[in-house]
Parts: sequence; structure tokens; C-alpha cells
Amino acid sequence: MSKEIPSDKFIIKGLSDKRKLKGIVKIGGAKNAVLKIMAASILFKDRLTIKNVPQVEDVFRMIELLEDLGAEVKRVGENTLKISTKGINKTSLNGKIAKRMRASIVLTGPILARFGEVHFSRPGGCTIAERPIGIFLNGFRGMGAKDTRDKKGTYHLKARGGKLKAKSTFFNKPSVTATETFLMTAVLAKGKTILKNVALEPEIESLANFLVKCGAKIKGIGSTTLEINGGGMLQTKGKSYEVIPDRITTGSYLILGALASNNLKIENCQPKHIEALVSSLRFSGVKMRIGKDWIKVLDNSKSKFKPLEIKTHEYPGFATDLQAPMTVFLTQVRGESTIFETIFENRFGYTEELNRMGAKIKTWNPQKISIDGPTKLKKRVLYGPDLRAGLAYIIAGIIAKGDSTIENAYYIDRGYEKIEEKLSSIGVNIKRIK
Ligand code: EPZ
Repeated sequence: MSKEIPSDKFIIKGLSDKRKLKGIVKIGGAKNAVLKIMAASILFKDRLTIKNVPQVEDVFRMIELLEDLGAEVKRVGENTLKISTKGINKTSLNGKIAKRMRASIVLTGPILARFGEVHFSRPGGCTIAERPIGIFLNGFRGMGAKDTRDKKGTYHLKARGGKLKAKSTFFNKPSVTATETFLMTAVLAKGKTILKNVALEPEIESLANFLVKCGAKIKGIGSTTLEINGGGMLQTKGKSYEVIPDRITTGSYLILGALASNNLKIENCQPKHIEALVSSLRFSGVKMRIGKDWIKVLDNSKSKFKPLEIKTHEYPGFATDLQAPMTVFLTQVRGESTIFETIFENRFGYTEELNRMGAKIKTWNPQKISIDGPTKLKKRVLYGPDLRAGLAYIIAGIIAKGDSTIENAYYIDRGYEKIEEKLSSIGVNIKRIK
């Protein structure tokens, strides 16, 4: 997103080291799960019902994209969507909408497999890396699609003979959206597809399990090799999909709790999805209790946190999407910590502003930083370079001294549901300025 897109802003009154937050936060559905199941609606003959849908901007963009294609999307109550793709009469993704969200790429496979062609522009999203799409193009070529690109940069993929063929693929990198895209594509392509070196994120497992419930033949779910026997559209026959809790939001509240609460309970979450974070925080000295679907951050006011060496990694390793909030945590830890980012090449863009707030973060190279702590943070006007960095700024603003402004609330609204309501309910003084 460019700075020109008008956006609300947040003003946060810093706690200035006082651990005042307490109460209960309930975690909503995962953005990165719901966007994929919405794309999967194209695989179904009948209407798909999705429950526990978070009200976040990326979901609104995905609704717009599906409606633009001719799908019917109905909202029932606050958190349920019903999607029928019977009426799809177009194979071109609306470029303006798709540009605002990288996840739009997951629509390409289902459209190409069902209708024999798809037109799309290179997807946009956060500025955390170059975000190539080579894995997608190569995979589609392997399944028998011919691709061209016009002067405006729009790709046109067309399946030879109107139908894609099943084709086994070894991914040279475990990519989340590529795994999801080819899983969905293979469900419609006739024959056996074996996908090797796939990503293991819980959102993928949840998607695959639901497709199996609705008749898809998928083996190896939860492993790095998926075998799909495809060949036809699926039917829900009334089954609905329940979006799994958002693990990145869970982790972000856990970090906030460790820094600024004296008793915070995080409910409706799946602690097993953030084991890497939990074990790092525990090693550092954060006291918490964990149940099957809750985490209680205990009073850490007397804890002396130890430094950490963090390396982001594909699941089940330390999630890159929790890297920025973790940096804020490490500014409050005694000693030198390091973070090595292995997934995206440009994900430390937010650290300069943290330094201006008083942090001591040294950039060794585009993928490695060290953080010397503890340092007191002071207020600042901030502009987050991506949605996860935006949330890190919110946490920084909460623990800082004085009133901080987070300029581009839109970024945060892309992935965090009702953020100011949830934060206010646990004691944060946060205001949205329209
Ligand atoms: C997904 O992005 C998530 N997005 C990201 O969340 C998340 O950070 C990322 O996975 C890693 O966990 C969605 O699920 C919508 P990748 P994705 O393809 O799938 C390289 C957020 O804030 N690659 O797994 O786009 C790529 O450059 C977002 O919610 C290629 O080289 O990430 C990266 O180095 C940000 N060629 C690596 O693979 C390709 O064609 C893994 O990225 C595609 C990817």
C-alpha cells in the first residue's frame, strides 16, 4: 500500500513501564486461513458456509474480488460468510483490488483449473520482499498451461485443451500460498498429483482437512508430501468450515501480555500453533500457564528477561510474522539478542523508527539485527511498513512514554480484527482518528 491511500490513524497513550493491562482477549479466525478457504469456494458445486470469519480488510478485499468475478457472497451475522460460485462469469482478477493483497494469487489456480484460463496482474501486498511468483508460473506450466504477459503486465494463463493435467512437482522452496494454490488446483485437475517439499503451516492442514471432508482425495496431510487424486468439483452437502484461530494475533497478544500486563488471559486460541514463540518466551523468563485453547500470562513484573537468539523459519519454526513484535519484546530484555530473518529479505524496515523511540537495534545486514536492551521507549509518530510491523509499533507505543501515533491504521486493519476494541477492553488507552 502506498502512503497515498487514505487511512485512519491510532493514538496510543503509553503506559511508560507500568504493567497495567489485564483481562481477557478472545482470538478471532485466522486471516491467512480464511482467505484460502474463500478461494476454495471455486472448487465447490454448492454454497460454502464459512464460520468464525474475522472482520479484517483483507477479507473485505477477497469478498470484492469474488463478487467481481460473479460469485455471490452473503454475510450472515458478524462472522459467517456463505459463498456460491455458480454465477462466476469472468476469469480476470480485478487488478486494482488484487494489487492490495498478495493472497489474491491463491485464486489463480482454482479459476484456471475450473474455467481453463485466468488473467491476473502481479499481486501486491506488503513491502517485505520482492515476493516472486515463479513457483506459481512454473507449476501451472507443468500442468499444461501456456502463459503470456501483455504490455500492462497482465498474465494470461490458458490450459491446453481447456483442462489442466495432474503433474507432480517438487517445490524448490516450501511456499505457503503456492502449497495452498496447487493443493486446490490439483483437486480439480484429473489424475494424481504429488506435491513435494510443501509448507506445513496449520492453515494448510486446516484447508486440506476440510477439502477431504467434502470429497477430495488427499493423502499426507500434515507432512511435506501431499498426494492428490483430482478430477472433479466438490460438494459441501451442508458441511461448514470453521476458521482456525489466528496464531499470529495470539502470539502478538502474548508478547504484549509479557511486556505490559499483570494478568492477561488469551482465549479461543491454539497454543500448539505457536510453540516456537512460547518456548522462546519461556526460555527468556516469561511466566505463563497454558491450556488446550488458552494462555494465561502471569504477573511478570519481577521477571528479569534473558536475551534470545531468534531465527525465523517455516512452520513449526519461529514465524516470520511474529518477528517484528518479538523485536519490541527484545528491546526490554537485559543483554544482547539477535534475530536472523530467513524467509523475507526486507523485513527489518521498521527498526529505524524503534531506534528513534530509544531502542538500540543494530542492522548487520538486511537479514540480521541485534538488539541491546533494556531500553526505555518514548513516544513517536510511526508509519508501519507492513501489517505485522504495524502491530509491533502498537506494542511499542503501549509500553512507551507519552502519546504515540500510528499513521496507517489500514495496514493493521488488514489483519487484526477490532484491534482498538480488544486493546481498550484490557486497559490500553487507544483512539482511532478517522
Ligand atoms: C504467506 O505468504 C503468508 N501470507 C505470509 O503472511 C507469511 O509471512 C508467509 O506465508 C510465510 O509464513 C498468506 O498466507 C496470505 P511464501 P507467502 O511463499 O505464501 C519465496 C502476513 O503478514 N517464494 O511461503 O507469500 C518467497 O520470496 C503475510 O499475513 C519464491 O521464491 O510466502 C519467500 O522467500 C506476510 N517464489 C519464500 O518463498 C515464489 O513464487 C516463502 O514465502 C513464491 C515464494
